[in-house]
Amino acid sequence: MKNIVFDATKGNIAQAAARLAKGKLVAMPTETVYGLGADATNDEAVARIFVAKGRPQFNPLIVHFADVESAMQAVEFNVKAKKLASIFWPGPLTMILPRKKGADISLLCSAGLPTIAVRIPKHPVAVELIKTLGKPIAAPSANRSGSLSPTTSRHVFESLGKNAGMILAGGKSEVGLESTVVDMTSRTPTLLRPGAITATDLEAHIGKVKVEIEAVDNNPKSPGQLLRHYAPNTPIRLNAVDVKKGEALLGFGTLKFMGIEDGGFAESLPEGQLLNLSASGDLHEAAANLFLMLHKLDEGGFERIAVMDIPNEELGVAINDRLKRAAEG
Ligand code: TXA
Ligand code: MG
Repeated sequence: MKNIVFDATKGNIAQAAARLAKGKLVAMPTETVYGLGADATNDEAVARIFVAKGRPQFNPLIVHFADVESAMQAVEFNVKAKKLASIFWPGPLTMILPRKKGADISLLCSAGLPTIAVRIPKHPVAVELIKTLGKPIAAPSANRSGSLSPTTSRHVFESLGKNAGMILAGGKSEVGLESTVVDMTSRTPTLLRPGAITATDLEAHIGKVKVEIEAVDNNPKSPGQLLRHYAPNTPIRLNAVDVKKGEALLGFGTLKFMGIEDGGFAESLPEGQLLNLSASGDLHEAAANLFLMLHKLDEGGFERIAVMDIPNEELGVAINDRLKRAAEG
């Protein structure tokens, strides 16, 4: 197959922007996960994203801007949204805001909602690509619908193949989890998807934030809340306190006390059957490794992946949210 993965050199970024301008797709690195991008103002281009991902329905998409000024042309910012923008952008925060009358963002990005999800990414390649295109980029995670989010260019290629169009390689995504999504249109802002920026982080600047991240069966506010969403093919067993026959282990913190059911210690499992999200118990390191390691163990052909308990605090909330979804179904 023709190579479609390119280093993010200036020349290749320019070429990627030219593709986008023609309504084609480009997978780009962001600090959260890789995104499958299209010109957000071009309906046909945005529609291509859904086809490439094999999305069952038109979920709304996040629109990525290079700066607050251009985001302000598309959506109405209230006082709290301005505050959050000044503190957390560029970065892993997505805000749902009312679409401005006459905004040139494709209606497909909103999927029938009167709102648009907006974000300013921090990854220099994403920012450069948006600036070169001169238009915002709509981008969901660059994976086939229902599978794990990609944190490397290789993941993108393995999940989407040539459907990705062109893949800009920009290293491993630093955060490793999709952005925090907060609906700023309700009187009390509502956290819809936990991420690296936590509810507590938000509350420090704008006061009370409601949390609605539990999965809802019907008409979820944010379709990303659908329970089975971030799933590897291998079944997952959470809060494992030992390793059973046929299982691989995804560890967290010290493995000293993890045993194998049939005898022996987890630490002696062969390479490839054991990965540790963070030996030192660092939640940031664990988040950055989460999808990468799930991908690796998923490829190992094990019966199940046992995952050790991860403290449900700070970034652990987002990690556990993804793990819970991966374990469903
Ligand atoms: O980190 C990220 O957010 C990555 C990178 C590429 O930016 N993107 C990403 O996109 O994760 P996606 O499409 O996989 O997830 C977008 C989430 C979904 O849960 C979607 O339902 C929600 O944002 N969303 C988008 N627009 C919305 C809107 N107008 N109202 C409510 N939820 C919205
Ligand atoms: Mg996704």
